[in-house]
Order: sequence, then C-alpha cells, then structure tokens
Amino acid sequence: MKALVLAGGTGTRLRPFSHTMPKQLIPVANKPVLVHILQDLRAQGLTEVGIVVGGYAEDIAEALGDGRALGLRITYLPQDAPRGLAHGVAVAREFLGDDDFVMYLGDNMLPQGIGGVLDDFRAHRTPARLAVQPVADPRAFGVAELDAERRVVRVVEKPARPRSDLALIGVYVFTARIHEAVAAIGPSARGELEITDAVQWLIDRGHDVRASRHTGYWRDMGSVDDMLECNREMLRTLVPEVAGTVDDSSRITGAVRIGAGSRVAGSTITGPVCIGRGTVVEGSVIGPDTAVGDGCVVTGSEVSYSIVLDAATVDGVEGLHGSVIGRAAQVTSAGPERRHRLMVGDHASVRLQTT
Ligand code: G1P
Repeated sequence: MKALVLAGGTGTRLRPFSHTMPKQLIPVANKPVLVHILQDLRAQGLTEVGIVVGGYAEDIAEALGDGRALGLRITYLPQDAPRGLAHGVAVAREFLGDDDFVMYLGDNMLPQGIGGVLDDFRAHRTPARLAVQPVADPRAFGVAELDAERRVVRVVEKPARPRSDLALIGVYVFTARIHEAVAAIGPSARGELEITDAVQWLIDRGHDVRASRHTGYWRDMGSVDDMLECNREMLRTLVPEVAGTVDDSSRITGAVRIGAGSRVAGSTITGPVCIGRGTVVEGSVIGPDTAVGDGCVVTGSEVSYSIVLDAATVDGVEGLHGSVIGRAAQVTSAGPERRHRLMVGDHASVRLQTT
C-alpha cells in the first residue's frame, strides 16, 4: 500500500501566515503539520509516500527532503494549481500505479493516528473507505450518508442542507478502482475535481464504499483558532525534557520541553509548554498551552494559549493569549503610556484591549 498526501492547497483562511509559508508547514507543538502526518503514515508501516505540491513546492521539499530522516521514500508530485482533491489523485496516477493507497489531506490532524481506518480496510477491502466523524455543523465538509450496514449510500460536498452529521475528515483509502472514477467525473460548480464526486461515481455504479468512524481527536487546520486548539491538544501528550538551561530563580511546573541551546531565566513556565532550540526566555510568564519555536526572544512578557513561530521577538507585552506570532515577527511594548505603534501586514489581525 502507498500513501498520497495532498499539500497543494493555498490556505487562504490561514492568512497572513499562508502568505509566506504553506499551511501544511505551520508548526503544531513545534512540528509542522506535514511531519505529524508523515510520522502517522510511518507508524502504520507505510513508507512509499507521494506528496502533491503546488506553489510552495520548494519550501515543502526543503523541509522534508527525500524523507529518509523520517524513514520514508518521498516522491513530489507537482500540481499546477489547486484543482481539487480528485485532480491530486490524477496527478499521482503514475506514482500510484495499481496499488491500494491511503489519501491524507495535508492540513488534517489526527493525533491518535489512522490505524483504525487502515485496520478496517485490511479486514474488509472495498474500492473506497472514508474516515468520518460526527460534527456539529457539517455544512463546511464533505458529508457521508450511511445505511444500517454502514455502507455509504451518498456523499455530498459541503451541502447546504446536510442529511447526516458525518463529516469526511481528510483520510480515504482506495483501490485502483478510484482512477476510473477520477477520469470519468467533470469539474464541480466551484470548478474543482471533487473526490466526493469520484466516490459518488463509484456508489452509483454499485461499488461497495464504506465508512470508518474515527473516535480520536481530529481537526482540519482551517483557521487560526483551529491551529491554537490543535496545538493545545498536541501539547497534552508532550513528553517533558529540559535540554536547555534554566536558572535558579525560574519555576517550571507541568509538562515542559525546552530545546538545546535555549536559556530560561527569572521566568515561570507552566506546562504544557514546548520551547524550541536557541530561544531566550527572560523575566516572563509562559503557559499553559503554548509553543515557542526556535531562535525566539521572549522578555518581560506573559504568553498563554499561543503559538510563537521561529525567530520571533516578544518584549514587554503582558497578557498575550490566543495569539499566533509569525516567523521573525516583533511584538514589543512602547512602555507605560497608552500608545501602540503597529506595522501590520496584509490580512493580519490585531486585537488590543486595555482595561
Ligand atoms: C476538504 C474536502 C471535504 C472534507 C475536508 C476535510 O474540504 O473537500 O470533503 O470534509 O477537506 O478537512 P476543504 O478543506 O478543502 O474545503
């Protein structure tokens, strides 16, 4: 069995971060989403991975290389534009050959892994198997309708009036039969080749399509709030380890990871918190539920439930909460007087609250 990871999407809802990096490389608990996904695939014994890449192809290839470091063999499959998930399968046609494969959307996080779905497929191999989970508002997702035997009788992409609460959660297992379907369908109203249409094509021709309910955590990294939520979830299982230095006046409680070459002084860190390598934290209060990347400087500040990306500076800022600070961004306080000096880039969002 092979794996196909789709990472060609542009991630407009994750602006401004997706202006300068692909959403699939945004770090969650200091590790890019794609690395979490690839480690999941490796844990399931899959080593032949094709990654469909778009405009950020070079960044992704630079981050992952040939996959050897992760125990994988990665083949990059360029897609000229985001033309839909089924188009991603078409692009991968040659790489996939006639093998069964699992397709994993590169912006979906399932921390407990896809083992359950793969076990179901291995126990009962059908042309398609879809991972699903009930959601409060299915209108934002592909939606599956099942019969009493858990056969999928209908899949609809983002229906205005959903007839079930079971969302497709970005993991699909297919046999080579899917290629016939992908070749047969045309673009949807939004101009994309939808994988849901390809699956429906199989159902309409009497093929057995099944669903597997994923009972673990799942999140589609669609928005900044999803990033923060997912970061908190991933930090819950953080293995504490202090490789950097922590001075005597600092207090560390809960699960805290501090990378090599980082220095913590005069600070309180309340886990779960992970701090990358070569970062300085001084006179600050950090955590809980916070990830600080590599090469950051956090001084005289309070940061909780937040993500600070590599090389960012936060100086003299109290009460940072629910925030994501981009790479090499600088957030500094002007001092005690109530003034703010901001240089805010395109699509950024800033919320100041003074009480
Ligand atoms: C895609 C799929 C949708 C699925 C979702 C899961 O939507 O088209 O069927 O439910 O991923 O994340 P998108 O996130 O591209 O809008």
